[in-house]
Amino acid sequence: MAEMSDVFFVDGMRTPFGRAGEKGMYWNTRADDLVVKAIIGLMERNGEVPKDRIDDVAIAATSQTGDQGLTLGRTAAILAGLPMTVPGLAVERMCAGAMTSVTTMGASIGVGMYDLALAGGVEHMGHHPIGGNADPNPRFVAEKLVDPGALNMGVTAERIHDRFPHLTKERADRFGMASQHKVQAAYEAGKIQPDLVPVAVKDAEGAWGLATEDEGRRPETTLEGLASLKTPFRPHGRVTAGTSSPLTDGATISLLAGSGAVKEFGLAPKMRMVSFAFAGVQPEIMGIGPIPSTEKALKKAGLTIDDIGLFELNEAFAIQVISLLDHFGIADDDPRVNPWGGAIAVGHPLAASGVRLMIQLAAHFAERPDVRYGLTAMCVGLGQGGSVIWENPFFDGKKKRK
Ligand SMILES: CC(C)(COP(=O)(O)OP(=O)(O)OC[C@H]1O[C@@H](n2cnc3c(N)ncnc32)[C@H](O)[C@@H]1OP(=O)(O)O)[C@@H](O)C(=O)NCCC(=O)NCCS
Repeated sequence: MAEMSDVFFVDGMRTPFGRAGEKGMYWNTRADDLVVKAIIGLMERNGEVPKDRIDDVAIAATSQTGDQGLTLGRTAAILAGLPMTVPGLAVERMCAGAMTSVTTMGASIGVGMYDLALAGGVEHMGHHPIGGNADPNPRFVAEKLVDPGALNMGVTAERIHDRFPHLTKERADRFGMASQHKVQAAYEAGKIQPDLVPVAVKDAEGAWGLATEDEGRRPETTLEGLASLKTPFRPHGRVTAGTSSPLTDGATISLLAGSGAVKEFGLAPKMRMVSFAFAGVQPEIMGIGPIPSTEKALKKAGLTIDDIGLFELNEAFAIQVISLLDHFGIADDDPRVNPWGGAIAVGHPLAASGVRLMIQLAAHFAERPDVRYGLTAMCVGLGQGGSVIWENPFFDGKKKRK
């Protein structure tokens, strides 16, 4: 008989993230090959896991067409050399695609149907511009179900500024700059690199190279530089390229396991799933979505925000993260929040990003036995939020560090 099980994040890896577009390092690389590389890298690093025991492979992509089409979980599994007996599926919840891959596979493990699963996502925003192949139903606008601006994520970020005038452009700029500086410091300390799978890339002249680092970083960012940037989403607006996640190509993957598989294969999980939740909000201000999803996830876990020692929040836009911090009474520069920076600097390949947050939180947990619980959370297009709370297996019960 299948038994309920704990759900463990055993390990996660990702490709370096590239700038989307013709000048980006992955312009000549297929989207599916990015996630295939990530799967190969993760399975190599976890060689004790028999490939034929993987119960399912869930891969998310927002745009499920072309080199991101054809039931990515199945095709990527075959291309990565997993046995033909391993099934796979494709997942879609826009920016929370990979997060949904994890929660869906995690739930299947939790009820005892699966022992091991792979969960991740990919987005090649160069090959698949946001909303490029979508045909939104005219009723959305004709019946005023949502405002046309709700389909442009930058416009929804401007609306958060409108709604919360005390969350100023200056605060958002400072947050955007800090993200760049924190990512650079993390790179210099060698924190990010261990979880990256290098990817062979071909440039416009056909010369081969190797992608080993996130391409879009701007460590030289200053407040003065940010203050002068254009506001592409509204004339005289407040959201700029410096406070937005850039358009990005990249893939992520994680290995999840139940208690039985952890024991059977002697695995050393990096995190235990405590709870998860998704929530809907007004699409016009989609960036506040992780507030209610976090409240739901905390309630399910029987925790409060004060129990969370580390936050990995997806920086779709600076203002959107700041609105969550403000809601929970957390300072913009609280050291528990995105300690190694975030999506404003490394990029946000939509359906891949959820697992990047988890990879990063897992790396923190290993260094922070004083922290018991961590949160990964993100906003989602058309007005949603997603949150997953994790427990640190290295927690040693000591008092929280100040
Ligand atoms: C904001 C956005 C429109 C900018 O796109 P872009 O104009 O192609 O971005 P660029 O990288 O060329 O940056 C624009 C300018 O700002 C400058 N810039 C960007 N970041 C900077 C920084 N941190 N410091 C200084 N200058 C910066 C660039 O150098 C560039 O300057 P230039 O025009 O003189 O060349 C785009 O990144 C975007 O749409 N982001 C949001 C994506 C999204 O919606 N994701 C889903 C979230 S839910």
